[in-house]
Amino acid sequence: MNEDELQTIASHRNAFPHITPLITDWRAHEDQGGDAFHAVKETAAILTATDQLIPLRYKHADATDPKVIAWVDEVVTNAERARVSGGAKGGPGPSLLLLGPTGTGKTHQGYGALRRLSVIGVNTAAAAAPIADIYAKMRPRPGVDSETVFESYAQAPLLFVDDLGAAKESEWVEEVTTRLVNYRYDRSMPTIFTSNVPPKQLGEKIGERVASRLTELCRVVVLKGTDRRLAGRAA
Ligand SMILES: Nc1ncnc2c1ncn2[C@@H]1O[C@H](COP(=O)(O)OP(=O)(O)OP(=O)(O)O)[C@@H](O)[C@H]1O
Ligand SMILES: [Mg+2]
Repeated sequence: MNEDELQTIASHRNAFPHITPLITDWRAHEDQGGDAFHAVKETAAILTATDQLIPLRYKHADATDPKVIAWVDEVVTNAERARVSGGAKGGPGPSLLLLGPTGTGKTHQGYGALRRLSVIGVNTAAAAAPIADIYAKMRPRPGVDSETVFESYAQAPLLFVDDLGAAKESEWVEEVTTRLVNYRYDRSMPTIFTSNVPPKQLGEKIGERVASRLTELCRVVVLKGTDRRLAGRAA
């Protein structure tokens, strides 16, 4: 086992002393017929990749909302089930829709959930971006294959789409959102969505078909409270 990889795993796990990873003892894992060498490699790679996805402001975010933690637990259970049955990593399951006014901590909870999953050891490659960045990267222009960009998000085993409904609406924007949500919906691929559009206006803002799918696909969590940025509680 590579010392650097073990060090990477230890440093990430130390930040979450209250969380129990799926594999805690590599020797016991081997004794039970597992391949510790590859498990260490894979675990360290997932932790590093997830860390690189997280913007500086949310580097230390943790999911603290009980409903978000319950969703993380569901994803872990489904990932374990998929692994045992020899299926794809990650496994199908519910998604998460974080709603609430500006500054209530939706993005914080979203990245916190991604960090928790990586530390627990759900071996699933993630992608994350504000939806406006996904549109921007997909904008048809010379040298860019919009479909490849779309697939890099749509096909990610775990996806975090931040700020749904925040971009200026157009037919093209609505089409991309519909295709993305539909792709995840058809395959029950775990996705975290956030939006600060009030629940009753979601359909009007992002399209009734998208809102309808989201409602069926997601555990919905509404964060309440004041804007943490204005309250001076934000760093
Ligand atoms: N549980 C928390 N503990 C500490 N800081 C937090 C927590 N939740 C949010 N924050 C901080 O509060 C600020 C606002 O949080 P965040 O960006 O997650 O809000 P948001 O709901 O996504 O806002 P918006 O709707 O504008 O995107 C950020 O600086 C974030 O780091
Ligand atoms: Mg946000």
